[in-house]
Amino acid sequence: MKGKPLQDDSNLYRAFCCPDQLTSLELKPKVGFLNKAGELYKFIDPDYRVIDFVNTKNFTEFDKANSKIYDAPASAEVYRNFLDWLFATFNEDEMSFRQNLIKKLRLSAGQKVLITGCGFGDDIGIIYDMVGNSGEIHAQDLSKSMVLSASNKFKQSNVRFSVSTATALPYKSRYFDAVFHFGGINLFGNIKKAIAEMERVCKVNGTILFGDEGIASHLRDTQYAEIAISNNKLWASQPPMELLPYNASKIELSYILGNCFYIIQFSPSDGLPAMNIDILHKGLRGGTARTRYFGQVEGLTLETKQALIQEAKNRNTSIHALLEESIKKMLSL
Ligand SMILES: C[S@@+](CC[C@H](N)C(=O)[O-])C[C@H]1O[C@@H](n2cnc3c(N)ncnc32)[C@H](O)[C@@H]1O
Repeated sequence: MKGKPLQDDSNLYRAFCCPDQLTSLELKPKVGFLNKAGELYKFIDPDYRVIDFVNTKNFTEFDKANSKIYDAPASAEVYRNFLDWLFATFNEDEMSFRQNLIKKLRLSAGQKVLITGCGFGDDIGIIYDMVGNSGEIHAQDLSKSMVLSASNKFKQSNVRFSVSTATALPYKSRYFDAVFHFGGINLFGNIKKAIAEMERVCKVNGTILFGDEGIASHLRDTQYAEIAISNNKLWASQPPMELLPYNASKIELSYILGNCFYIIQFSPSDGLPAMNIDILHKGLRGGTARTRYFGQVEGLTLETKQALIQEAKNRNTSIHALLEESIKKMLSL
């Protein structure tokens, strides 16, 4: 993996925008970015590849707790120990595990990818091998020390970083072909917003894949689940399917690592799913999805209703057709 460190070429920062207003930013070479309100987001590394968008004054309780864990001096060792334990517990090779997960994104050369909650950047190299020199990789995390550690490992000119929150991403809408996250979203505080942000920055028909702890529902009543959950309460989490945006399509839910982690994959579409509500139903009830929803009127007496149904049967037509015909006639429509 070769590449020159980034300098202050504005093209290389085109993905970024103000995380609060989503407006464009003005590049101040070797200093940072100014937003429209005059706030400065600074570069915090010698190569001007890492931008700090975080204002700790706005931290939620979750952000404070996460910073305490991941920005602590011993965090690297503690987190490494956890990962080693996790992959040994489920008898998985970490590299193959990460590769298999990222393969689901079906990336190709030249694509733009965002990794949220990137940690030490363990997925960057795998993604880089797929998108290559012509692609673009952005990685973000709330923890400055995690991001700086990842940026030190990956100095390619098309890999950039931000210290930011996954619930207010400093990236332009519909910029990325794929957005990837593994292992943090359960504790991001506002999971719905974190998913909405992944959706916002992903192109229509792009791919979003995220996963975290959560035992599959068919295992919930087993001793296996009790052992797992007593080991780590987070494993009782449910996959947040109800928090997906209304335009999520090609949705897939799967489980990995002993069915103790959920993986949700979806594509943003450009609206609600297509549904033709004007297809006529055959049969006694008749009508369409449109008439059944928009055409409802006050009820009839039971006697009139039964007579109406009988008459529709006698005429071998639908109740809808009979009502439509009779009422039009009565109202001279
Ligand atoms: C369990 S680690 C996972 C790291 C990495 N994805 C991996 O697979 O090893 C969770 C990460 O989420 C980050 N994090 C916590 N809250 C965040 C937030 N609001 N926005 C972005 N990252 C956050 C933490 O700093 C930490 O690096």
